[in-house]
Amino acid sequence: MRIITLAGSPRFPSRSSALLEYARDRLSAQDVEVYHWHLQNFAPEDLIYARFDSPALKTFSAQLAEADGLIVATPVYKASFAGALKTLLDLLPERALEKKVVLPLATGGSVAHLLAVDYALKPVLNALKAQEILHGVYADDSQVLDYQHKPVFSANLQHRLDDALDTFWQALHRHDTSHLALKWPENSLSA
Ligand SMILES: Cc1cc2nc3c(=O)[nH]c(=O)nc-3n(C[C@H](O)[C@H](O)[C@H](O)COP(=O)(O)O)c2cc1C
Repeated sequence: MRIITLAGSPRFPSRSSALLEYARDRLSAQDVEVYHWHLQNFAPEDLIYARFDSPALKTFSAQLAEADGLIVATPVYKASFAGALKTLLDLLPERALEKKVVLPLATGGSVAHLLAVDYALKPVLNALKAQEILHGVYADDSQVLDYQHKPVFSANLQHRLDDALDTFWQALHRHDTSHLALKWPENSLSA
């Protein structure tokens, strides 16, 4: 089982990236192979000038194609997800998320923009043909107690993250198993 984590904040260290760091540690301990990417892996001019052939973008797209799932984290900027993340998502192949389980994570200065993931990010993930987009986790800044060092979260956020990661792990395995189940009758006929 292999996944990509993508940190969509233009800043580092960052609160939304701390959520992702926690997710990485937890899933790695559950035998999930995690490849981590962040916006800083891409040259800004490649993103701004839509250089589809940039080496970093090609490597990222190839790794994504081989992955079973994606966890993407973003800050809320102006009631939407970060524009810098959009410049990357815009350059991905049309079916980049086909057959993948996707878990969105977001942090914002207040709960007022709690629905930004639903009305702004999810439609883009859907356009990239994600197979299953799970309920995201939204944290307001007061719930991220430390993001400069080791991530520390409020008990409520920690609980919601753990639940979401369990659901993500189960969804990854469900997709894996359903793939086998579809193949089984065909194998048995040819035996
Ligand atoms: C340019 C900018 C715009 C922001 N716009 C919003 C906003 O519209 N709504 C909101 O709740 N928080 C907003 N925030 C606050 C961030 O979403 C919040 O601090 C977030 O946790 C930052 O995540 P990061 O540390 O991963 O970059 C904004 C912050 C910046 C820098």
